Amino acid sequence: MVGTYPETQGGPSLPQRRHLVTEVPGPLSRKLLDRRAAAVPPAVGTALPVFIERAGGGVLVDVDGNSLIDFGSGIAVVSVGNAAPAVASRVAEQVARFTHTCFMVTPYEGYVAVCEHLNRLTPGGHEKRSMLVNSGAEAVENAVKVARAYTRRPAVVAFEHAYHGRTLLTMTLTAKNRPYKQSFGPYAPEVYRVPMAYPFRWPGGPQRCADEAYQRFVDVVGTQVGAENVACVVVEPIQGEGGFVVPAEGFLPRIGDFCREHGIVLVADEVQTGFGRTGAWFASEHEGLVPDVVATAKGIAGGLPLGGVTGRAEIMDAVHVSGLGGTFGGNPVACAAALGAIETIERDGLVDRARHIGEVMLPRLRTLAERHDVVGDVRGRGAMLAVELVAGRDDRTPNPAAVADVVRRCHADGLVVLTAGTYGNVLRFLPPLVIGDELLADGLDVLDAAFAAAS
Ligand SMILES: Cc1ncc(COP(=O)(O)O)c(C=O)c1O
Repeated sequence: MVGTYPETQGGPSLPQRRHLVTEVPGPLSRKLLDRRAAAVPPAVGTALPVFIERAGGGVLVDVDGNSLIDFGSGIAVVSVGNAAPAVASRVAEQVARFTHTCFMVTPYEGYVAVCEHLNRLTPGGHEKRSMLVNSGAEAVENAVKVARAYTRRPAVVAFEHAYHGRTLLTMTLTAKNRPYKQSFGPYAPEVYRVPMAYPFRWPGGPQRCADEAYQRFVDVVGTQVGAENVACVVVEPIQGEGGFVVPAEGFLPRIGDFCREHGIVLVADEVQTGFGRTGAWFASEHEGLVPDVVATAKGIAGGLPLGGVTGRAEIMDAVHVSGLGGTFGGNPVACAAALGAIETIERDGLVDRARHIGEVMLPRLRTLAERHDVVGDVRGRGAMLAVELVAGRDDRTPNPAAVADVVRRCHADGLVVLTAGTYGNVLRFLPPLVIGDELLADGLDVLDAAFAAAS
């Protein structure tokens, strides 16, 4: 232990305030950075080079004793807060009982209970089955395997600006070259890309975006792939790493109808959008979309590594016995954490809380846009919000330099914010759903000040 706080734990009892006692990063973080540089390759990046010692509610406390406001949730993971009591207690109890048997060797109840919750909570009242894996990428990858086995077709359709992970198949599904794909090819075959209905950047303007993007989708699938060859369409109902792109209204339901008409499995990648983040349990719900298969991870287990694939029973059951699985998938400790996280979201009304966060943040972000010409677009749902920065009021050229400047100022002032976007010009906000109103307001003040100082 490097720091000086053995007497306090993390979790919601940590003082919920921003408090800097050194520059950021402080001397103890810098020492650890030197060790990191000698032990870990730079390929594994770092957004903010402070080492965290404890965290909870809406704060991260670093080894130097700085208390930072968390607007990132470890990339949309700790929606219930770090070291959430129901997660921590269930994990402690499970660790003391047993830590692993492998569900494929000798099963245990926790795995089944998590799958029952997934079957209940994901969109649609149809009969479902779920399986568990270790990460979002693995969830998406397994969703594609299931869709191929069910349809006996090879092709997978993915969107521009998509992000689905870093394994070979999910990296192939991911749109952006740097940093995710550069030098890592050749990529997996039978992946086809179609335009996303990205209102802010649609050449014909936001009004025509849904229609025109859908026509492009139909054209590419019809002429370049053949609908009869498509196993699945994989889509994020709000794109995450691609820049929190909310598809133009009406686009997703039409994609859903097309899939149904052509026997294509619609896979919703709800890895980032799931578990209440957008003010609904799953973002597909905002437009009444009922996907055939849903991939989940991130917010499912309060910070422990877990992912899920939930699908129509007839699709999931089409795979041969032992065709799916993995040594650690649905580890009992991760399942215990998921049960604690789901209990917390339901008991504390965190889906509503996500909506509330959106209601607090959106007006503040819109005010930023009025004040600063570089803010070209404000978008998102619930507690998944972003601003896209551009050259100026009449020039939508992406402005990653302005994002970098604002982020640097926020970090120095004790606010953890993340970037996103195909052009690196999006500032995204993913606060824990348990963040208090005062802390949220303070974080927004830091953001205001950063924009004011940057302009
Ligand atoms: C939409 C989406 N899909 C898949 C993934 C990959 O998840 P993981 O990093 O757990 O493999 C991510 C991660 O950011 C994501 O946002």
